[in-house]
Amino acid sequence: MSAVLKSEVLDIRPIQENDIPSVLKIEQASYRFPWSERIFLDCVAAGYHCRVLLKEGDVAGYCIVAHAAEEVHILNICVGPEYRREGCARLLIKNEISIGAESGAKEIYLEVRVSNLGAIDLYKGLGFKNIGVRKDYYPTGSGREDAYVFRLLLEDFEHGFTSLNLYV
Ligand SMILES: CC(C)(COP(=O)(O)OP(=O)(O)OC[C@H]1O[C@@H](n2cnc3c(N)ncnc32)[C@H](O)[C@@H]1OP(=O)(O)O)[C@@H](O)C(=O)NCCC(=O)NCCS
Repeated sequence: MSAVLKSEVLDIRPIQENDIPSVLKIEQASYRFPWSERIFLDCVAAGYHCRVLLKEGDVAGYCIVAHAAEEVHILNICVGPEYRREGCARLLIKNEISIGAESGAKEIYLEVRVSNLGAIDLYKGLGFKNIGVRKDYYPTGSGREDAYVFRLLLEDFEHGFTSLNLYV
């Protein structure tokens, strides 16, 4: 899939082995408790959708998503600091919504730290609703932090599968 975002050529494709160093660099720049290379490789081996968004050929962001029969679970979504607020994460998620809808999924879930206000805005903007809290779900420097559980019912996705717009 290719699209034009802010006049630059984009591509979303499965992660390849030679993307891993770039993915790890973004991961480590973005999280206090980053995933290891082993976790990414395990996700690939498990058959999860592990996709990178390329901008002018460089890895700008990625998502790791588990697609089951009727349920999709976003496990990780991350965009390099220098590529943020350009619509990359929105595009990655819309792509997974599109794939989920096409394969008959009914719901998309994710967890997010209650303090991650930017990500929460992103999910709300796409129509996800907060449906609960997982207590002490994430580590912090000094203890644990709750997660919100967000869900998007695909029938509620406002633009619908057929009109997903990759030109944001
Ligand atoms: C959260 C994250 C993935 C967003 O990626 P992004 O490519 O910058 O997001 P987008 O440009 O697609 O943003 C789409 C919308 O989400 C909201 N949004 C995204 N980041 C935001 C922020 N920091 N503050 C407020 N709103 C934000 C805005 O509504 C934005 O639309 P706008 O730019 O037109 O106002 C990115 O900041 C990131 O990688 N953070 C570190 C990793 C992380 O927290 N991942 C989520 C774990 S649950």
